[in-house]
Amino acid sequence: MQQEIEKLKNEFESDWQKAQTAQEIEDLRVKYLGRKAAINDLFTQMAKLPREEKGACGKALNQVKQYLTERVSQKSAGGAKSEKKIDFTYPGLKLNEGSRHVLISVKEEICAIFEKLGFIVAFGNEVDDEWHNFTALNFPEDHPSRDAMDTFYLDLPSTEFGKSLLRCHTSPSQSRVMKEYKPPLAVISPGRVYRPDEVDATHSFMFHQIEGFAVAEDINFAHLKGVLLSFARQFFSPDVNIRLRPHYFPFTEPSAEADISCFLCKGIKDEHKKCSVCKDKGWIEILGCGMIHPNVLENCGIDSKKYQGFAFGMGVERIAMLKYGIRDIRLFYENDKRFLEQF
Ligand code: PHE
Repeated sequence: MQQEIEKLKNEFESDWQKAQTAQEIEDLRVKYLGRKAAINDLFTQMAKLPREEKGACGKALNQVKQYLTERVSQKSAGGAKSEKKIDFTYPGLKLNEGSRHVLISVKEEICAIFEKLGFIVAFGNEVDDEWHNFTALNFPEDHPSRDAMDTFYLDLPSTEFGKSLLRCHTSPSQSRVMKEYKPPLAVISPGRVYRPDEVDATHSFMFHQIEGFAVAEDINFAHLKGVLLSFARQFFSPDVNIRLRPHYFPFTEPSAEADISCFLCKGIKDEHKKCSVCKDKGWIEILGCGMIHPNVLENCGIDSKKYQGFAFGMGVERIAMLKYGIRDIRLFYENDKRFLEQF
């Protein structure tokens, strides 16, 4: 038995010297330590030996096994000689880098323009309540927007501010900020809004708006127009003009919708092709605005005899669609890389 152990060891030593590659080292391990290794037969033989010999023999065998194990692992840890040379001229793997979503960059671009004009950013609450979303903003109790068909109400206990809801516009930022801070105020407030609309190319149950408003002792309609003109020229094109059409919102009086002159066709008609942005109207609607209704100021604890303000609100998706000629609002939310990579 001792002789056989010696033989095994010698054979192992010479194989060990030869084993170089990872595969050869693995073969070595299988040959000497695997299920069919010769040492296993020796263990079986040892079990049949008379008692006196068994002890010494078993010890010797265990020692050899340990020795083989150590030597094999030493070789694998030392590393097989590299079989492949590294080709440093091979082109690297292209990493799939993430990038900013077009809606986020448009939102940031818009906010940055207003910040330069002195507005500060404030965030309202996506989960808001009837008072901040409607009542404070001068919506009458029976206004159709309050209907569950037009607003997502939440299954939460009512508070002193009425039922909880998902805000349907960013205008409640006005009531939240005005209640908390004293004028003069110039605030821009971006965020998500929710409406139970049927989804199609221009509607989504969730979209983004940016609210802006300013309150001070001497704010007038000309300030509103000046701010909007400055924004439109910085964001769309330095030569655009702006026009305000009378409109109605419960929380502004007077109210208006603002149009910009078409930044693509510049109002010049081509008899062969309709303008893809303004459809030859020459003007594009971009937002709603007006002078903050005195009731809104009073509801938020601001003296309407002393202070006036203007407010405006625009849809980020709409603005992004106009600027980049995107035809379907659903593209913003589908995470199709072919779409996202274009921005
Ligand atoms: N909240 C209005 C809307 O969602 C937009 C608006 C904001 C109009 C502020 C006037 C003043 O359509």
